[in-house]
Amino acid sequence: MTAYTVTALKPFGAVVEAHQEGTDLGSIDLEAVRALVGEHRVVVLRRFRSWAHKDELVAYARRWGDLLSWNFGEVLDLEVHADPKDYVFTPGPVPYHWDGAFAEKTPTHQIFQCVKAPARGTGGRTTFCDTTMVLDALPAEKRAQWEALSVTYRKEKTAHYGGHITARLVQPHPHTGVPTIRYAEPLAPEEFLSPLFLDVDGLPEGTDAEAFFADIKERLYSPDVMYEHAWEDGDFVITDNHALVHGRTAFTQGSPRHLRRVHVL
Ligand SMILES: [Fe+2]
Repeated sequence: MTAYTVTALKPFGAVVEAHQEGTDLGSIDLEAVRALVGEHRVVVLRRFRSWAHKDELVAYARRWGDLLSWNFGEVLDLEVHADPKDYVFTPGPVPYHWDGAFAEKTPTHQIFQCVKAPARGTGGRTTFCDTTMVLDALPAEKRAQWEALSVTYRKEKTAHYGGHITARLVQPHPHTGVPTIRYAEPLAPEEFLSPLFLDVDGLPEGTDAEAFFADIKERLYSPDVMYEHAWEDGDFVITDNHALVHGRTAFTQGSPRHLRRVHVL
């Protein structure tokens, strides 16, 4: 008998619910979960035992593969800082991006543990866009245009990441070969503590970058390709970082929100 029930979400994603409250996530067949992430891109695991110490999360994540180690270690504690150096540590919104753009290697998976969810109705949802669905829905002419684009991202290193990179907008998924979009939204210096500047190369004559930013934004935030995760205490979420871009909705200042995140290479 399986110890859990899988329910597909719309337009993508799946919830894995343990039959028995407090089941150890480590007791679930990892390859079955990996296959679910491959199929659904985002898997929410509920009613599993919450790990009190971050070492338990690390030990579990190591079973998925090598972990990306940052200057703070392997676990990022996502919570509001009193004196934030980066916008991710404020209660503000986080526009779409993929993790590890500025790292040596892009992580394959994110594994999150929700230590403390924001109070209901106070925001702080994690937003995901399945970029393979965006490409599938794109008119052929537009798709050909996008396939010709490269974007250079410039960010000052204010926290654990930063620098200067150039990436093709459309890239094959490194493990499946499926075309994906690699895109991080521009962050205006008037709005964000740590601005991100974009230079788009390859736009057709007469199209300016602002028009491209508006067009891609509308497509990435279409409800047909987007899943917003409203956290509950104890949730685990495992994602396909290569296929998705993700962000966060703003939340009310003072509302608790504490996630732990690990990157599997
Ligand atoms: Fe992120």
